[in-house]
Amino acid sequence: MTSMSRRTFLLAATAVGTLAIAGVAIAEVPKLAQKDTYKVGFAQTESNNPWRIAQTNSMKAEAEKLGYQLVYTDAAGSAAKQVADVNSMIAQGVDVIFLAPREEKPLIPAVMAAKKAGIPVILLDRSVDPSLAKAGEDYLTFIGSNFVEEGKRVAEWLAKNANGKSKIIELEGTTGSSPANDRKKGFDEAIQAAGGFEIVASQTGDFARDKGRQVAEALLQAHPDADIIYAHNDEMAIGAIAALEAAGKVPGKDVLVLSIDGGKEAVQLVVDGKIAAVVECNPRFGPKAFETMQRYAKGEKIEPTLVNEDKFYDASNAAAELANAY
Ligand code: AHR
Repeated sequence: MTSMSRRTFLLAATAVGTLAIAGVAIAEVPKLAQKDTYKVGFAQTESNNPWRIAQTNSMKAEAEKLGYQLVYTDAAGSAAKQVADVNSMIAQGVDVIFLAPREEKPLIPAVMAAKKAGIPVILLDRSVDPSLAKAGEDYLTFIGSNFVEEGKRVAEWLAKNANGKSKIIELEGTTGSSPANDRKKGFDEAIQAAGGFEIVASQTGDFARDKGRQVAEALLQAHPDADIIYAHNDEMAIGAIAALEAAGKVPGKDVLVLSIDGGKEAVQLVVDGKIAAVVECNPRFGPKAFETMQRYAKGEKIEPTLVNEDKFYDASNAAAELANAY
């Protein structure tokens, strides 16, 4: 569907019945009335790692603090279930939908269905294909990290600190998800610009610990001279450390491991010397998500992108920062 235009996509989706609008995009995000309390949907993508759990807890805590009713769903790693979850929220008459889209393209029908039902959607942490749905038109805004920048920060750290190590195995996140696409782009471009490095293999580990371990194991066998592993998230980095140790290699000495997320377990591994550096991906969305929704209800103009600030951990600060990591 990469070459499919937004209008063609809308028409095709209408034809197969996934979208009931008449093929012509309505150019405005539905309004949100000012009320004392709201019924709010949060469609989570999965709950298989500390990052997702921290994000969910932050959303639940903020909804509770405000006294809003939260309709929470967990798509368990299935884009199809996540679309169904959003449809169920629409049927339940929620006022707003917070959506963490598993992948960039399959969640477009969910965004469009909510729009057609008159429910504003706020994208959290992951985005959708910008050629198929637009902020300020199809959904209100995207709140999250700059994933391209996260990948770039890993590459920049390596350019200064790799000490002659140069052969990189890249463990990619979920295929078709915005963090996997953007963390790859940011890293690959910056590492190429730095010069002197080679990405010897790049394969998805689906953001999961055991898949990351299995993929790292296979890629280390195929590329025994690899001396850097860049994982798109902590879970795959922790899986890769297990694979390295099983292969008799010492993480941090024989092979540098780098990751993104910055959960407590990974920051502890930086303190232990097994992970060289971690770019944080801040999962504490609750306050900003609900504040944005309230600003919109008041009639404020909302920016198309609201970027979260991310920290950076390496041997210079990990011990001091450990207590603050999620
Ligand atoms: O979208 C953010 C990514 O999704 C996090 O890096 C990862 O751990 C999560 O599953």
